[in-house]
Amino acid sequence: MPEHIITETCDRVQRIELRRPDKRNAITVAMYEAMAAALVRAGDDPDVRVILIHGQPEVFTSGNDLVDFLNLPPGGADSPVVRFLTLISQSSKPVVAAVTGAAVGIGTTMLLHCDYVVAGESARLSVPFVNLGLCPEGGSSLLLPLGIGYLRAAELLLFGEAIDAAQAREWGLVNRVVEDKLAIPEAQARALALAAKPPTALQTAKSLLKRRLAPLILNTIHEEVASFSQLLGSPEAKEALSAFLAKRPPDFSRF
Ligand code: COA
Repeated sequence: MPEHIITETCDRVQRIELRRPDKRNAITVAMYEAMAAALVRAGDDPDVRVILIHGQPEVFTSGNDLVDFLNLPPGGADSPVVRFLTLISQSSKPVVAAVTGAAVGIGTTMLLHCDYVVAGESARLSVPFVNLGLCPEGGSSLLLPLGIGYLRAAELLLFGEAIDAAQAREWGLVNRVVEDKLAIPEAQARALALAAKPPTALQTAKSLLKRRLAPLILNTIHEEVASFSQLLGSPEAKEALSAFLAKRPPDFSRF
């Protein structure tokens, strides 16, 4: 099986690359496990000062693997996706991301836990949980209204439509927008800039920025996953997921 998560540490930056291009970097259980392990290593290793997450210039990620949603639904607090979300949301070290192309579902919600986000011009952020018969995850029901305001959050979460890079920048979901081919190098340069800073001061600043919200975020992630797991077994979600896999529009008229 090819490796779908590439990790390496270089110049005090731990890089995590999603690389499953044939499925638009859809994230499987094994990929969450690999990303969680990388975050644990990054947290433990004093030589790592910053974490960098990216896909390829064509795509960030199409979100959770929809086949896995049917076959290996997240079970609860111990599931790899929840471990990943917990670790990224509570990371003491800054996380920088480059988002290019599609960033669906957790592809967008993981950005809410990052400290600096560079978008390529093609970036399209969406959280289409309701369209899939599901509900917000990753702390997004808390962080989106707080970050961009209730009406925008409700628009994103209830309609599930994608916004482009310029809109994401205007709403404060990404720091800056650059040409696609420059997004990953730019994020890398910003990660290196942070990695050169005094590490204790950097981590103290991040901790102060996050301290009040961190427990609330954790609670929200757990509350959301309880509802999410319940909905995953619902007939509405089954219809949405089988429609996607059969490449047909879903039909919710009978519910
Ligand atoms: N899970 C599993 N497989 C996925 C996937 C996902 N989340 N997203 C895409 N794929 C697969 C497709 O089934 C297709 O597989 P195939 O070649 O075996 O048929 C392949 O990846 C390419 O997808 P395609 O839809 O043809 O690519 P695209 O470039 O036209 O569109 C997306 C890209 C991301 C916009 C589109 O694939 C999409 O909307 N995916 C679903 C996203 C989603 O709902 N994620 C869950 C959020 S909770």
